Amino acid sequence: MCSVKYSRIKGTGSYLPEKVLSNTDLEKMIDTTDQWIRDRTGIERRHIVGEDETTCDLAEMASRRAIEAAGINIEDIDLVIIATTTPDRIFPSTACLLQERLGIQKGAAFDVQAVCTGFVYALDIADKFIRTKSARTALVVGADALSRILDWSDRTTCVLFGDGAGAVVLSGSDESGVLSTHLHADGRYKDLLTVPAGISQGYEQVQSQNAFIHMDGREVFKKAVNTLGQLVDETLEANQMEKGDIDWLIPHQANIRIITATAKKLKMPMDRVVVTVQEHGNTSAASIPLALDVAVRDGRVKRGETLLLEAFGGGFTWGSALVKY
Ligand code: COA
Repeated sequence: MCSVKYSRIKGTGSYLPEKVLSNTDLEKMIDTTDQWIRDRTGIERRHIVGEDETTCDLAEMASRRAIEAAGINIEDIDLVIIATTTPDRIFPSTACLLQERLGIQKGAAFDVQAVCTGFVYALDIADKFIRTKSARTALVVGADALSRILDWSDRTTCVLFGDGAGAVVLSGSDESGVLSTHLHADGRYKDLLTVPAGISQGYEQVQSQNAFIHMDGREVFKKAVNTLGQLVDETLEANQMEKGDIDWLIPHQANIRIITATAKKLKMPMDRVVVTVQEHGNTSAASIPLALDVAVRDGRVKRGETLLLEAFGGGFTWGSALVKY
């Protein structure tokens, strides 16, 4: 039997809803242009959930693909974590709903809410469960349907986001896997990027115009660029690594300009950065596992390579993971 020194990614999967909304489609809905959206964000299109489609539907598809890629039996999974900001129900958690769909009845299942940083938070937690032998095989999912919390008449936000899910299966191993994780939060920035309504404020709030994403784009942009630069330094220092030791940067896909700034800080050429923002928009907690799965399946990311995952989002929250794939 192997000793458990690390948690290791055994397989990845992702899923995007069928419906595609292009920038040109948006031109017909609001006062915007394809050019403006491309220039400011890099986004060309995004996927949007169907009328009856939910976060759990996306999570289930991504999970089944990750389980297949990992070559494990579903019964081996003894931890299910979903990072999401758009759960299907107030309760039970979307992780419990997913667990039921997959026919898993053992171990813990819970949601993590750290908005766009959610997947990195979930990965950190699952890694700790595995290394402390509290779980053997974890299903870690990032899934969101942010289109449900967008004000489709607000051109400053609705052009930025999309829906999707990504998943990884994580197992204990004596081979290198997750090398380190670094999580942060600072709630003083709660109002710069928020949906300022919630169930404890009463149902009226949830049904009001407040129940949509409100964002100070310029301030979020500035803070994200500075913070991610510091996060990259922190991650390299903790692992006594140099910039050149990273094979792939797999960033949260919010805006191509934020991604380029982080790559520049790392002195990484853009062909070592996985970029999906043009196809997916900002899919919140789904964005990193989605990008990872795309790059694994198209053969860019290979076993043994060193990946730097990093994210920034509402809270503010931010975090990174250095992973030997
Ligand atoms: N189409 C056309 N014009 C738009 C527009 C749209 N969709 N949205 C805003 N504009 C206009 C603004 O009204 C403004 O017009 P004005 O100069 O007449 O007032 C102008 O474009 C510039 O707006 P500004 O907000 O300064 O643009 P920007 O360069 O900061 O880009 C964002 C806006 C949102 C793309 C950018 O700030 C950003 O990416 N921020 C980070 C957002 C993010 O990633 N959030 C999630 C983090 S997880």
